[in-house]
Amino acid sequence: MQTARLALDPHFTVGRINRNIFGGFVEHLGRHVYDGIHEPGHATADDEGFRGDVIDLVRELGVSTIRYPGGNFVSGFRWEDSVGPREQRPRRLDLAWHSTETNQVGMHEFASWLGKVGSDLMLAVNLGTRGTSEALELLEYSNLPKGTALAEARMANGRPDPFGVKIWCLGNEMDGWWQLGHRSADDYGKLASRTAKAMRQLDPSIELVVCGSSSAHMPTFGEWERVVLSHTYDDVDYISCHAYYEEKNGDLASFLASAVDMDHFIESVVATADHVKAVRGSSKTINISFDEWNVWYLSRFEDVEKIQGLDNWPVAPRLLEDHYSVADAVVVGNLLISLLRHADRVTSASLAQLVNVIAPIMTEPGGPAWRQTTFFPFALTSALARGVVLELKLDAGTYGTSQYGVVPVVDAVATHDDATGATAVFLVNRSQTEEVTVTIDVAALDDLDRVDAQSLYDTDVYAKNTLEEPERVTMKPNTSATLERGVVTITLPAVSWTAVSLA
Ligand code: AHR
Repeated sequence: MQTARLALDPHFTVGRINRNIFGGFVEHLGRHVYDGIHEPGHATADDEGFRGDVIDLVRELGVSTIRYPGGNFVSGFRWEDSVGPREQRPRRLDLAWHSTETNQVGMHEFASWLGKVGSDLMLAVNLGTRGTSEALELLEYSNLPKGTALAEARMANGRPDPFGVKIWCLGNEMDGWWQLGHRSADDYGKLASRTAKAMRQLDPSIELVVCGSSSAHMPTFGEWERVVLSHTYDDVDYISCHAYYEEKNGDLASFLASAVDMDHFIESVVATADHVKAVRGSSKTINISFDEWNVWYLSRFEDVEKIQGLDNWPVAPRLLEDHYSVADAVVVGNLLISLLRHADRVTSASLAQLVNVIAPIMTEPGGPAWRQTTFFPFALTSALARGVVLELKLDAGTYGTSQYGVVPVVDAVATHDDATGATAVFLVNRSQTEEVTVTIDVAALDDLDRVDAQSLYDTDVYAKNTLEEPERVTMKPNTSATLERGVVTITLPAVSWTAVSLA
């Protein structure tokens, strides 16, 4: 049996948790919108055609902002197609996913759905096939209270008050060769700067996200961030990071350590942003919007799912419908630990995505909706992480991986809410064979007398929740947890994610 130790002290903090770190992402892709959140014929559908069972699950998940409408989709999207009378909305090709977009759910319907799930809108503008002028028009349509043709059009379309969208993404993954309108860092940086300045001229209160790299493994990574920020440093608030992880070639040991890569990614982008800050002698700090992150079996999409053919543009095809295992959920929980650990600089993040498409929630047309394994770490972390992230001293064993070298067996992060005293510790055991008993010194935290712990694990690390067996995997109480004389002791099962809450 391995052991690990950690100590918490409320006087030493990393930073305050921005709730926007618990964001989600809805892209017009596959069965995400149509047959996912929107299925008019479904038994639980409301008067707008939104599935009630999905609304309940999204609420339970605890998602703050939701990025919309893409993703790769946005780089060919004409926002005007998605507003106005539904019967007049055009069907369009979605080149990103080789599908047909019917535009039956657009800005207004999506904003109404957000009201039902209790989340805020984060909008991406198309800087792929379009530019500054269309971004300005969308901002005017969305945020201007009244008095112009576009504001009046919004009102005529049934929305008297502005949408009041606060966070805007300046395009999507513009470094990627697959992106419509993909361009060099220099060209994109100039376009993003022009567009940001124009958008702020219209509404100075908005926050802007400039595209960073679509992965830390892009050949342009690092230099892309430096060049783009050299053009846009004064104009934007965040630079984006995107990262997806999958188990490759049966290398579970490396996959379980994916958060090591995310840590390195975040720290590299912070270093690059701060380098640009230093060169400019700026007092402003650029933070990170980690607005796409998850486990994604991308190789399956590339090898099996890709749609092709000039006469083959399906509506809402089954795409990117990964079914997640216990191991995947442990990695997702660990990625959340990484995001929280960097709460001083990661102030916005979006789990990609939300329903059916690489999602924590799955649906069957005419059938049930259910929680994937990855639902649990997100929902619990969102519910329990409050206040500030504490600096953590962790003493744990290590193991070797082929991708990331020697890594700790245990990873953890702790949060503390001064107002209520509520404290949470999130832990991962990456060992495939051994339990780890962890002692957590909480003596510096006053008045703690109750510990509650839940773990996600299974004898089969590849167990999943499916249509046939939707509750095969759930959180289990971890009854090993004790709190005595200022020390919590808990045993973490092999390949597990655990949430400990102290009150
Ligand atoms: O989330 C799926 C896709 O991944 C998004 O559309 C794109 O931005 C990224 O490459």
